[in-house]
Amino acid sequence: MGILTVSDTREKITSKEIREKFLSYFESKDHLRIKNSSIIPKNDPTLLFINAGMAPMKKFFTGEESPEKPRLCNVQTCIRTIDLDDVGDKSHLTSFSMLGSWSIGDYFKEGAIKLAYEFLTKHLNIPNEKLYVTVFAGDKSIGLDVDDECKKWWKEVGILEDHIVECPMEDNFWIAGETGPCGPCTEVFYDTRDDDVNKYVPGGYFDTKTRYIEIWNAGVCMQFNRNLDGTYSPLKFKSIDTGAGLERLTMTLNKMSSVYDTDLLKPICDKINELANGKLSERTVRVLTDHTRTISLILSEKQAPSNEGRGYVPRKLIRRCILLTTKESVKDFDYLSLYNFFIDNYSDIFPLIKENKDFLLSHFEKEYEQFNKVLVSGLEKLDEIKTKGNNISKEDAFDLVTTYGLPFDIIEDYAKDNNFLKKDDESSSF
Ligand code: GLY
Repeated sequence: MGILTVSDTREKITSKEIREKFLSYFESKDHLRIKNSSIIPKNDPTLLFINAGMAPMKKFFTGEESPEKPRLCNVQTCIRTIDLDDVGDKSHLTSFSMLGSWSIGDYFKEGAIKLAYEFLTKHLNIPNEKLYVTVFAGDKSIGLDVDDECKKWWKEVGILEDHIVECPMEDNFWIAGETGPCGPCTEVFYDTRDDDVNKYVPGGYFDTKTRYIEIWNAGVCMQFNRNLDGTYSPLKFKSIDTGAGLERLTMTLNKMSSVYDTDLLKPICDKINELANGKLSERTVRVLTDHTRTISLILSEKQAPSNEGRGYVPRKLIRRCILLTTKESVKDFDYLSLYNFFIDNYSDIFPLIKENKDFLLSHFEKEYEQFNKVLVSGLEKLDEIKTKGNNISKEDAFDLVTTYGLPFDIIEDYAKDNNFLKKDDESSSF
């Protein structure tokens, strides 16, 4: 027998409306709307880029500094490049806007859950039946049991008992880097289906790949500091950190099938299709869309491409784009028009792209020219090698890197794409 399901019949909503609803809701609950920070961390060697709304506020959680008010909210631009190979699927991005709210030593689990539930059901009008939540299943290594307190408050506000899922440390424990303030978390998921396919049954598989989409980390229950040696020390006081990706929330609330359909990214995809006369694959269009935004954001902070650390990220992303358009035979893709389009249309949410437009465009162009030259001659050499057989010798690879200046990861990609043999003998490294 089918389980009773409820359809979600809300009207469409823009990303700007969601952003404003979020901030004004938290302001109405006594949170101070604060400015977002630069994506370049200040005095934080643990991070290359700001990867969450809480990252610039770590000192508030440790008590080293005090915020103007104990309750805060903002929208923070974040960069995360750990899932680079997944970019181009429906939801992975290297940059995104995070809606964040915080209680610094003020309310804890009860307050966070009540605020989250009210916002989701009364302000975003999501039907209760569509919401699932995860709670920390406990872990002996940090001396915590299953989070019955979060469970209790979710049930109390109205979440159905069989919509509460216990998840282990690898899913429900949050930290911004290797060390620093952290804690177990409780996340909210939206059920994208109205039928019973892969529907969660208590104790069974919680299908976050095709059915349930995470829309909000509605509470990292900040209570530990992770130290360099991997141990955890209790923080002086407990806090709440929440974060919701605006792109993913916009996709979900509008029942879209990918973040690239949202008003935050679709115009960029459309522009790429126009510039390439529709000749690029959908995945490449998505990757270019994502990378154009991230590269622009990084360059707009006057971070030039370079060979190491922070500067290597835009270098790598620019090279990936050029490689993709070259591979798909759109060799003269008009990147400059694309960057100008992005600057002209998105400077209201990312003001620095306009302010530092000259730096952004000139560094992009310089990088493009240099790499394009290397790529053209390197790929010619690789094609030559391919005609001789399906493997690259160590000498060939060495020559390509040292003489042609071709990055090793590109040689590896080429070998993979062209099914070069992987041999462990002395003559080949592939
Ligand atoms: N800071 C919480 C999160 O990024 O999920």
